[in-house]
Amino acid sequence: MHVTFHLNGSPVTLTDPIPTTTLLDWLREERHLAGTKEGCNEGDCGACTVMVTDQTGNAPLNACILFLPQLHGKHVTTVEGLRAPDGALHPVQSEMITHHGSQCGFCTPGFVMSMATAHLNNQTDHDTVLAGNLCRCTGYAPIVRAAIAAEAHPVPEHLSLLAPNPPGEQPEAAGAEPPTFYQPETIDELATLYSANPDATLIAGATDVGLWVTKQLRSLPTPVFLNRCDALHGITQTKSHWRIGAMTTIAELESTLAPHHPSLGVMLRRYGSAQVRAAATLGGNIANGSPIGDGSPAMIALGATLHLRCGDIRRTLPLEDFFIAYGKQNRTKGEFIEAVSLPKQPDTLQCYKLSKRFDQDISAVCGCFALPVADARFGPVRLAFGGMAGTPARATRAEAALSGHPMTKETIGHAMQALATDFTPLSDMRASADYRMQAAQNMLLRAYYTLIGTHTDLHEVRP
Ligand SMILES: Cc1cc2nc3c(=O)[nH]c(=O)nc-3n(C[C@H](O)[C@H](O)[C@H](O)COP(=O)(O)OP(=O)(O)OC[C@H]3O[C@@H](n4cnc5c(N)ncnc54)[C@H](O)[C@@H]3O)c2cc1C
Ligand code: FES
Ligand code: FES
Repeated sequence: MHVTFHLNGSPVTLTDPIPTTTLLDWLREERHLAGTKEGCNEGDCGACTVMVTDQTGNAPLNACILFLPQLHGKHVTTVEGLRAPDGALHPVQSEMITHHGSQCGFCTPGFVMSMATAHLNNQTDHDTVLAGNLCRCTGYAPIVRAAIAAEAHPVPEHLSLLAPNPPGEQPEAAGAEPPTFYQPETIDELATLYSANPDATLIAGATDVGLWVTKQLRSLPTPVFLNRCDALHGITQTKSHWRIGAMTTIAELESTLAPHHPSLGVMLRRYGSAQVRAAATLGGNIANGSPIGDGSPAMIALGATLHLRCGDIRRTLPLEDFFIAYGKQNRTKGEFIEAVSLPKQPDTLQCYKLSKRFDQDISAVCGCFALPVADARFGPVRLAFGGMAGTPARATRAEAALSGHPMTKETIGHAMQALATDFTPLSDMRASADYRMQAAQNMLLRAYYTLIGTHTDLHEVRP
């Protein structure tokens, strides 16, 4: 099979690449473009950040967990491609020099690529943009000063020409028989392929699967890349529902749903980093069944329905029913996630993500609550938690203690007590069981204070 993309403006066609070769390894070892650095090789440090441009825009991505077939039809810009053709530095590069934004320089290409992508996208929330780039020596203040100074400069012409990207070339399939990997272009093709090869590995954004390769050194049986299956991408809406394709990234989810559910937006802004959110998909986040994923509690609280398909058979189920036990989901062999749908609703959602670090950290506890209130009473509430059991789950006893009851602190107290009977959390490296329970109970209390208008934003200190 061919994989065709542009690298720093020049077309590249690879025939039958080893499908789990990461862009980082390929750049450094095959192309000798060593500006893109390897720090952690697991998506955490941003040293390998490149800019990837397609019809949806420009995104910073971690090259260490990005497989070559995922690049089909896209433009890749590395730090070597940032200068103008006349050799002029990109504004973020020259401002990094002016503001002393680099010391040992190891992290600098990654920072510069994140900053240049944000500059191109006209993003000025630099703390958010740079949360996935780690620097051990310079400190962030000079780097952020450089990013602010670069705002005054126009986007260099050679980069502004990249977007919007023309559709990638679609050459005839050729090469090895049987193919060493697959890239279905329609959902029907995917359904036929996967039901015939139920042991295949589906690869969406590869923010989990990438680590199976780079950290666990696993070889993946029959990789099936979903990136070319257009119908799995994106969010559509009817009068009553959102339909979120399985390949919708967390970044797209954030930009579409945050205006309707601001608390979800605040939480998703802390999901991984800009690089992770630009790659990770909602389908992958649900399918991995992680008890500490952030997507599922929020979707469950919003009353999500999961759309599954196996061959010609489609079925739906409430998202909470997908999670049976730790590592076990309600999914037959050859069945995949097609979409998630959400009823449109007045915003009553409150989301809390508790992690050891503010940015770029997996949750110890994630609590997402839909708390409708009418006539000073709670309506039918939905309380969903991650990190409290072997799966994301609803707190049904705490829900019963709230639904239909007066919206008072006493009622919240009953729900906090009931929560202790809903879950028996585990102790692990992220948190002890007692801490988890107390934090989850306090999330309910905090939600109550938010409802009665008490200021609960811990990011600001007010007199
Ligand atoms: C640095 C870093 C930070 C992270 N931070 C967070 C965080 O803050 N919160 C959080 O929740 N997660 C976090 N994650 C985990 C990860 O980003 C998510 O689980 C992600 O959403 C997975 O999506 P993906 O598209 O990358 O899936 P992939 O890695 O491609 O796939 C994950 C699993 O889902 C399967 N799969 C994918 N799509 C489908 C489908 N349509 N149907 C059936 N199966 C499918 C794959 O076969 C695989 O088993 C982080 C990961 C990294 C590397
Ligand atoms: S090398 Fe650290 S994120 Fe890629
Ligand atoms: S300049 Fe040394 S790690 Fe950032």
